[in-house]
Amino acid sequence: MASNFVVILLLSILRFSGPSAAARPRALVAPLAKDPSTLQYFTRIHQRTPPVPLDLVVDLGGRYLWLDCDTNYKSSTYRPAHCHSSICSLAGAVGCGGCFSAPRPGCHNNTCSVSLDNPFIRTSTFDELAVDSLSLPSTDGDTSFSHVSDPSFVFACAPVFLTRGLVKGAAGIAGLGRTRVAPPSQLSSRFGFRRSFALCLPSTPGASGALFFGPGPYRLLPGLDASRSLLYTPLLTNPVSTAATFLRGEPSYEYFIGVTAIKVGETAVPINKTLLAINKKTGEGGTKISTTVPYTTLETTIYKAVTAAFTGALANVAKAPAVAPFELCYDAKALGSTRVGPGVPAVDLVLQSEKVYWRIFGANSMIEAKDGVLCFAFVDGGRKTTTSIVIGGYQLEDNLLEFDLGKSRVGFSSTLLFRRTTCSNFNFTSSA
Ligand SMILES: *[C@@H]1O[C@H](CO)[C@@H](O)[C@H](O)[C@H]1NC(C)=O
Ligand SMILES: *[C@@H]1O[C@H](CO)[C@@H](O)[C@H](O)[C@H]1NC(C)=O
Ligand SMILES: *[C@@H]1O[C@H](CO)[C@@H](O)[C@H](O)[C@H]1NC(C)=O
Repeated sequence: MASNFVVILLLSILRFSGPSAAARPRALVAPLAKDPSTLQYFTRIHQRTPPVPLDLVVDLGGRYLWLDCDTNYKSSTYRPAHCHSSICSLAGAVGCGGCFSAPRPGCHNNTCSVSLDNPFIRTSTFDELAVDSLSLPSTDGDTSFSHVSDPSFVFACAPVFLTRGLVKGAAGIAGLGRTRVAPPSQLSSRFGFRRSFALCLPSTPGASGALFFGPGPYRLLPGLDASRSLLYTPLLTNPVSTAATFLRGEPSYEYFIGVTAIKVGETAVPINKTLLAINKKTGEGGTKISTTVPYTTLETTIYKAVTAAFTGALANVAKAPAVAPFELCYDAKALGSTRVGPGVPAVDLVLQSEKVYWRIFGANSMIEAKDGVLCFAFVDGGRKTTTSIVIGGYQLEDNLLEFDLGKSRVGFSSTLLFRRTTCSNFNFTSSA
C-alpha cells in the first residue's frame, strides 16, 4: 500500500507541475534583432499575467534572465523566492534579503538575493530572485506557432538603474550561460526537450534572426535545415569565473571553445600557444564566444600577428586611413566581391584538429566602416585581457551556432551565405 501511495503522489506531482502533454512543444523560438546604435542583439519574450511583451538584450554568458521590476511590474502570478528554498540554491543565491517599503515585485522580506551584471556599463548589484509566467512561440523548426507558457519561470528582479546602457526600451538581459537557471536549461527541463539552444544573429538591423530553445531542425528559407550543416567542437570548462562578480570557487558560465591555431589565407599565424589555453588556476587565456562584444577581440600579440598576416596577403591592395576602432582598412573598390562578402583571405579558427575549423569569410571579417572603406573587423584587446580571444557578435552574424549543453559541444555552420540563406530567413508567422 505504501508504495502505491508514493506512486500516486508522484503522478499527481507530475500532472500538476508541468504543462499538459498536449501543450508540450517540440521546441521554442524567439526573434533576435540588432540595434544599429548600441550594436546589441535583443530578443522578445512575454512575461507576467496578463502577459506583457518585453525586449531583453541577449548575453550568451549571462547567469540568468533579469529584468527591471521597478517600472510598472503588474502580475497576478509573481512570487518571490523564499530564503533557503530549492530555487535559491539552484540559482546560486548569495544570501537572504528584505525590503523596507511596501511589498511589490522586487521588494519582499525573507527572499534570496542573487547578483546581477550589466556587462555594457560594467555594473553589478544584488536583487530578489522570483518566479512568474513566461511565454514564447513554439516551433516545429519550420515555422512558429502560438505561445506556450512556463507558469513558474525563475528570473531575477533588477532595479531600474541596471538597465542603463541597454538598447532603448529593453527591460533587462536574457543571460544564456551554462547555469541551471538560465533559460536554456530551465526551458528544457520544463518542457522535456533536449538541453540545447541555437543562436542565429541577424546581420541587418530591422531583419529578424532567431533563437531556438530545444532541438532542431532550424529551417531557413528557401529550404536549408541548418542543423544538418554543422561542425562540432567540444565546449571547454573554465574553472575560474570570468563574470564581473562571482563567489570564490565559482566556474565560468561562459562558452569556451578550444582554438588551437589561427590561419589567414590557409597559412598558420605565429601565436604564443600559452595564450590559447585556459589557465586552470587563474582562468586566464582561451577563447570564448560572446554576444556582448560587438567585434572579435584579440590579445595584442595575437592581434598583431593576425593583422600582419592579413596585410601581407593583401600587399597589393590600396589601403585606406584607419576608421576607429579598426586599424586595417582598404579602399572597397580595390577588393573584389564574392557571395560570401568582400574578396579577402579567409581567417580560420582551427579547433580540435586540422580538419575542424571555423572559417570566417569577408562578410564576417570586413565591415564598411565608412562609405567606400572596408576595415578588418577585429579589435586589439590589449596585453592584459582575461580571455585571449573573444569571438564577438559581428563574426557570429549569419552563422548558426548550436549550444548542446547535454553533449557539451558547440555546432557551427560558418557563413550561411554560402548556402544562399541568412539568419533572417526563419519563417516567423504573425503569432510570434
Ligand atoms: C519587512 O519587515 C520590516 C520589519 O518587520 C517591515 O518594516 C517591512 O515593512 C517589511 N517589508 C515588506 C516588503 O514586507
Ligand atoms: C606566452 O604567453 C605567456 C602568457 O602570457 C607568457 O607568460 C610567456 O612569456 C609567453 N611566451 C613567449 C615566448 O612570449
Ligand atoms: C510560412 O509559414 C506559414 C505557416 O505555416 C505558411 O503558410 C507559409 O507558406 C510559410 N512561408 C513560406 C515562404 O514557406
